[in-house]
Amino acid sequence: PKAVRYEAEDAAISQGAVAANHAGYSGTGFVDTVNVAGSHVEWTVSAASAGTATLLLRYANGATSGRPMDIAVNGTVVAAGKAFPGTGSWDAWASATVTAQLRAGTNTVRATATTAEGCPNLDCLDVTGP
Ligand code: GCU
Repeated sequence: PKAVRYEAEDAAISQGAVAANHAGYSGTGFVDTVNVAGSHVEWTVSAASAGTATLLLRYANGATSGRPMDIAVNGTVVAAGKAFPGTGSWDAWASATVTAQLRAGTNTVRATATTAEGCPNLDCLDVTGP
């Protein structure tokens, strides 16, 4: 099935802001969170039916250290401390994938920084299936 894209700049942001000062993002910008543990972005995504989905997060991390995040679906962490390694530059975007169960209808997907460095810059979430 075809992926549906949800832009980070349209998501709910806690301790962060929409920015556009680095190239290569999709949509109108990306989210730059505050460098603090707990900062997060939450997308509301919809699924046609209950089942397994692939969640692809597009991010940039120009820092030398990783920026791990907890990925939660409907309030339950499905990938604790998921690695978001450095991408070499804030203009270099990469993706990280998580597989999770979605329910039919509305779901939330939240990415929360687990270290004081905050989240990597977050561009968008691509959801494939169900
Ligand atoms: C730099 C960069 C930001 C990034 C920030 C960070 O300031 O320009 O886009 O979010 O570092 O360390 O998180």
